[in-house]
Amino acid sequence: MARGISLSLPLLYLALLCTSNVFNIAAAQGTEADCKPRANLPEVGECIVESADDPRVDDSPAILATFQRCSSNSVIRFLPTNYTVHTPISLIGLQKVKVLFYGNFLLPDSISEVQSAINTTQNPPSTYATPWIYIQGSDVSIEGSTQIEYGRFYGFGEQWWHSGTRTLRPQLATFNVTNGFLSNLKVIKPIAWGWNLPGQNIRVENHFVDAKPDNATRDDTQSFPFNTYYDQDKGPRPDNTNQTSTNIRTFTFKNIVGSLGTNWTDGSCISNPCWNYVPGLDEPKAVILDLLGHITSGH
Ligand SMILES: *[C@@H]1O[C@H](CO)[C@@H](O)[C@H](O)[C@H]1NC(C)=O
Ligand SMILES: *[C@@H]1O[C@H](CO)[C@@H](O)[C@H](O)[C@H]1NC(C)=O
Ligand SMILES: *[C@@H]1O[C@H](CO)[C@@H](O)[C@H](O)[C@H]1NC(C)=O
Ligand SMILES: *[C@@H]1O[C@H](CO)[C@@H](O)[C@H](O)[C@H]1NC(C)=O
Ligand SMILES: *[C@@H]1O[C@H](CO)[C@@H](O)[C@H](O)[C@H]1NC(C)=O
Ligand SMILES: *[C@@H]1O[C@H](CO)[C@@H](O)[C@H](O)[C@H]1NC(C)=O
Repeated sequence: MARGISLSLPLLYLALLCTSNVFNIAAAQGTEADCKPRANLPEVGECIVESADDPRVDDSPAILATFQRCSSNSVIRFLPTNYTVHTPISLIGLQKVKVLFYGNFLLPDSISEVQSAINTTQNPPSTYATPWIYIQGSDVSIEGSTQIEYGRFYGFGEQWWHSGTRTLRPQLATFNVTNGFLSNLKVIKPIAWGWNLPGQNIRVENHFVDAKPDNATRDDTQSFPFNTYYDQDKGPRPDNTNQTSTNIRTFTFKNIVGSLGTNWTDGSCISNPCWNYVPGLDEPKAVILDLLGHITSGH
């Protein structure tokens, strides 16, 4: 059980070792061969999501239609190209679906377009925000491309922080799945929250987040935060009287890798002290794992 987990850093790169498949939705057995480049050609029977290959054309209806057609016992493949996802989508009732996410999703790069779409979507909201992508089902895996330029979710989020826009921010995705697997997904300049995992028995591997401010400096703290803990917009940090404000069970962090620029800073502080203030720690902090000592173990 952990009391609180705080992550605050401009660039968090979680690199986990390549391992075999967690569970098999399709017939393939996980082997070391999974780590090697594959031909990645579509196989007979796969459901291919077509892209218009035109940034002005919203691919959301085509994505929805494919998931509705192939919602069980299927392999859904995204091709190595950009998909314009300008409408929030709900992919629900999935059963035994393996998604080969070899393309990219592009959210609108217009703040007002995002706000207006998230204001009207029927996607089930999370505690803090409504997800742009809602996924619900059982035995669902989403395997991103092993190539760095694919398997990406482009949020165009940095501008929200430059302009201090905090209304109608979407969360990227909710993965409300029993027996789920996410791998090789890359979150690029998210607007705010990334993946929410309210489901059960979910494994995440090789998750990459680029929330690096491209032009912020130490002295100009207009920058791009990455954090989880509590929402300062909702008021002061709540009393953690029972030492259980975050309760995580059977959770393993492995091989966390990150990098920080020189003179990195954190523009997420809109309260004083900052949301991530921990008495007795040096400032600034990159990563805080605030765990209850007697029930955690370190390696
Ligand atoms: C996809 O979109 C991103 C972000 O706009 C861009 O950097 C990239 O070049 C695009 N890739 C393709 C294949 O069009
Ligand atoms: C959001 O929806 C509410 C209620 O329909 C409306 O009053 C408000 O103007 C909308 N805001 C935006 C930014 O679309
Ligand atoms: C997750 O899906 C279940 C149905 O399987 C639903 O009852 C629950 O409300 C959903 N939770 C969230 C956070 O969306
Ligand atoms: C970064 O660029 C944005 C957009 O041009 C601007 O609003 C912001 O002030 C810039 N920040 C810094 C630190 O230069
Ligand atoms: C703390 O635990 C007590 C006893 O179990 C419970 O009544 C109370 O609601 C808890 N407080 C919070 C903030 O969770
Ligand atoms: C980092 O900040 C210090 C103190 O403000 C400054 O002296 C130094 O030049 C900065 N270094 C870089 C690389 O910006």
